[in-house]
Amino acid sequence: MKRRLAPQAGCPPGSFGAPVIGEIREWAADPLQFAQARAQRYGPIWSTHLLGRPCVVLLEPAGNRFMLSQGLQYFSWRAGWGRAMLRLMGGGLSLTDGHQHDQQRSLLKPAFAHAALQQLQPQIQHLIRQQLQTWPDAEPICLLERLQTLAFDVALLVVCGRTPAPIAEALHHDFAAFTAGLFTPLPYPIPATPYFRAQKSGERLRQTLSYLIELRRLNIAADALDSLSLMLQAEPNRPDDELISELLLLLWAGHDTVASLLTWICIELAQHPEILQRLRQELSTNHHSLLDHVLREAERLHPPAPGGFRGVVEAFEYAGYHVPQGWLAMYSSVYTHQMPSLWHNPTQFNPNRFAAPCNEGKQAYSLVGFGGGPRICIGLALAQIEMRLVLRELLANYQWQLVPNQDLRPVWLPTNQPRSGGLITIQRF
Ligand code: HEM
Repeated sequence: MKRRLAPQAGCPPGSFGAPVIGEIREWAADPLQFAQARAQRYGPIWSTHLLGRPCVVLLEPAGNRFMLSQGLQYFSWRAGWGRAMLRLMGGGLSLTDGHQHDQQRSLLKPAFAHAALQQLQPQIQHLIRQQLQTWPDAEPICLLERLQTLAFDVALLVVCGRTPAPIAEALHHDFAAFTAGLFTPLPYPIPATPYFRAQKSGERLRQTLSYLIELRRLNIAADALDSLSLMLQAEPNRPDDELISELLLLLWAGHDTVASLLTWICIELAQHPEILQRLRQELSTNHHSLLDHVLREAERLHPPAPGGFRGVVEAFEYAGYHVPQGWLAMYSSVYTHQMPSLWHNPTQFNPNRFAAPCNEGKQAYSLVGFGGGPRICIGLALAQIEMRLVLRELLANYQWQLVPNQDLRPVWLPTNQPRSGGLITIQRF
């Protein structure tokens, strides 16, 4: 039985769910259904209770715009994360606000700009080819795991520069357990819990990164464009702890998301052989519009993050409602990406919707899989280059089939992934 919400006169309508835990279980089980059911009842603004606090949800492109650009002064990114994330990650770009954020973002920008990525492209391509060759032929593999390994190596190259293989392996090994603890609701070091394992992995990750920083301090190439070298050159005396948090955040945000989205793309292409065939034909031309539309359609239908949370640091009025300071606020990418008023047959995978004559997705803040506004994903260009390179390599040299009878329903945390991990068999032409 839901408690009706009336915390303060003038607040948006909604329900708070169970005491203490609120509606977090319903949200985590299916953020799309969660938002759709409440939107039907209350409209595009309503209240719930998540992460231990009342939370206002602002839907539709207008809500996205308000949270991602127009109303920035009301929100804190740091105050939007749960306790497990704050304790394990410590800091980093997504967990920082105000001047400190802006300074750090402009410092890191050159590492993620087209010019730097262009320079790195041959190395990224080499990494991709090397890894794909290790995938076994004609036996079931878990796409998600394989792509996580691949995307981790690419993120490591861009974030930390060339890294000795044993260090790279140690980091990758510890990242899986670390990531699994980032969203646990109970961040207490009780043995054998995901949080406990994440804490232990986090300690090892910090030691390994500290060693890597020491190595890099001894030898920074003047023209290096990796994030670590840029940070060391700009602020040689910055404490290692802060540098490590920044690296952890970039490595996490930079590989889990890419691996999840690529997994969904491979699954969709296996289920839509006619699109796969047209993509192969497109490879031999200089036009890559279909590939571009496939990437956008996958971002729409399978966004790695279902939306974003913020802490409300200053009370505000929105659509005639009052939102108090201390609440959470959330925008929902999954909801916007499936609005029938924006997308024809929204549940269908149809990359052609982005081409003429449909031309969908033109409205600002209707496609927000990478966020938007001044804090749009800093790794957007890297993710797009990397996903294009992986897909072109796969399309040109491999065919793949889904293993039958697997559970492809999404799990939403830490990123949106198929429950089975995406089991496929792959064969080289
Ligand atoms: C398919 C791939 C990716 C997706 C879908 C994605 C998605 C997102 C989203 C939605 C946000 C904004 C969250 C919000 O404001 O609510 C974001 C921010 C961010 N992303 Fe990504 N991301 C991807 C790849 C990457 C990569 C490759 C990196 C870096 C190596 C990266 C690093 C970051 C960072 C540091 C932020 C925080 C930016 C800031 O607050 O200034 N992401 N990403």
